[in-house]
Amino acid sequence: MPTNTKELKPVILNAFCMGTLGLQCPGLWKHPKDKSKNFNKIEHWTYLAQLLERGKFNAVFLADVLGPYDVYDGPGNLAPVAVSGAQFPTTEPSAVVSAMAAVTKDLSFGITFLTMSEAPYHLARRLATLDHLTNGRVGWNVVSSYLASGARNLLNGAELTPHSERYNQAQEYLDVVYKLFLSSWADDALELLDGVFTNPDKIREIAHEGKYFKVPGVFVTHPTPQRMPVVIQAGTSRQGKEFAAKNAELVFITTFSAEELAKQIADIKKIAKEKYGRPEGSIKFLQLITPVVGKTHEEAEAKYQELQLYGDLEGAQALFSGWTGVDIGKYGPDENINEAGTNAVKSFLQLWNKKSPGEPEGAAKTRKEIAKQITVGGLGPVFYGTAEEVADEIQHWVEVSGVDGFNVTYAVNPGTFEEFIEHVVPVLQERGLAQQDYPKVDEDRNLTFREQLFGTERKDPTYFLESHPAYDLRWRAGESRDEFERRLNKKRKSEAQDVE
Ligand SMILES: Cc1cc2nc3c(=O)[nH]c(=O)nc-3n(C[C@H](O)[C@H](O)[C@H](O)COP(=O)(O)O)c2cc1C
Repeated sequence: MPTNTKELKPVILNAFCMGTLGLQCPGLWKHPKDKSKNFNKIEHWTYLAQLLERGKFNAVFLADVLGPYDVYDGPGNLAPVAVSGAQFPTTEPSAVVSAMAAVTKDLSFGITFLTMSEAPYHLARRLATLDHLTNGRVGWNVVSSYLASGARNLLNGAELTPHSERYNQAQEYLDVVYKLFLSSWADDALELLDGVFTNPDKIREIAHEGKYFKVPGVFVTHPTPQRMPVVIQAGTSRQGKEFAAKNAELVFITTFSAEELAKQIADIKKIAKEKYGRPEGSIKFLQLITPVVGKTHEEAEAKYQELQLYGDLEGAQALFSGWTGVDIGKYGPDENINEAGTNAVKSFLQLWNKKSPGEPEGAAKTRKEIAKQITVGGLGPVFYGTAEEVADEIQHWVEVSGVDGFNVTYAVNPGTFEEFIEHVVPVLQERGLAQQDYPKVDEDRNLTFREQLFGTERKDPTYFLESHPAYDLRWRAGESRDEFERRLNKKRKSEAQDVE
């Protein structure tokens, strides 16, 4: 057990899921205990939500892609994902959230929406609707997309926008969404008094006119319980980190060592503090993991190896090629890709240090080996062993990196979550590393997503921290339109001066 002298605090536990079969572990739908093929059934999601709430998870997160991973042996090669079910087919993530919310009270929901194709106005309304229906339990994973196969169908035949421009566009997209949520309606616009439902003087047009979007009007949905859903991000490039440092309240990272994770977190925190004045603690970080638990260490190892037997190597290579944009099929099966690969692949593999049972340290990274490693845990490390050993590993990563929590994903669904909740969560709770229960809030309401992350003790706990760049965009109760607009103009001027 890792030694520690500091008091441990509960980590954030997030379940990493998707409306598909092979989210991270292609082929494991063939495992006799796996039920992920029921992802198109509502009971699959309501069961999962209730299970996670029993395990005191903070949130469930729904990943999304809008096209097949067709780069491997491609272009346009559908067969590996069709056969293996590697993130194909998929269903739309927000559709299951209302059902999961209806059978839970405190569990929150992170939902992936792309900024590539849909009008920000439309997305904002969908998100606002869910923040209302869940009473403030939603967050938005802002993704600027990486699959050309998706772009082809969503951009009216145009190619995927170049990386840097995708992020510029994503920033403007988010700015529009901030304005719609925060600056179109005053907090007290809904009067419901003397025959007046909404006071028209408390609604204003946002008049957004930018490089990519023109959104002149008022928002069509009234202020939501969190005022703005939690902003989540998972970019890894320099620009991705900048975007996270400026906007995100929750950041998803995946690395294969606690030391590397510490570096990634420090990097984003530094930009956040120095460039955007966001102090320590204003962004929470989660690391992706797949737990494999046994009664003994040997049993867990055997289980890991058994899981790998169901893995689909073709599907794994399709995922790799989609993630990197590089067709791994161009290399020989035993070729050391780390040496032969292009710069993009090398930099991706530089940090690929996945340790599976029975595999030697520092082995050559061949196509075959990487594919095999992807089949269990995908892009993240596998924590395997007894419940105590898995808890040790979690504790170790927390102590070394200062990470705030974990994105727990499954090899077998829902079995991985059931075992983690039955065996590992109680050990974490005993150590003070997992919450025993959700914090209590007023009787008549549930916990919001933001409170799951930043606690219930703040003055306005359901809203952004004061250091968030969009904090001041909110039209407050009691503020006239003129007062609000004067305040906004002042903010705009001072930001423009900062840039100069
Ligand atoms: C844990 C995790 C979850 C992610 N989930 C999604 C997702 O659901 N949909 C998506 O298009 N991209 C997802 N991504 C990819 C990122 O949004 C991003 O495109 C990727 O990390 C590459 O970074 P870059 O865009 O800064 O180059 C995820 C990344 C990580 C690490």
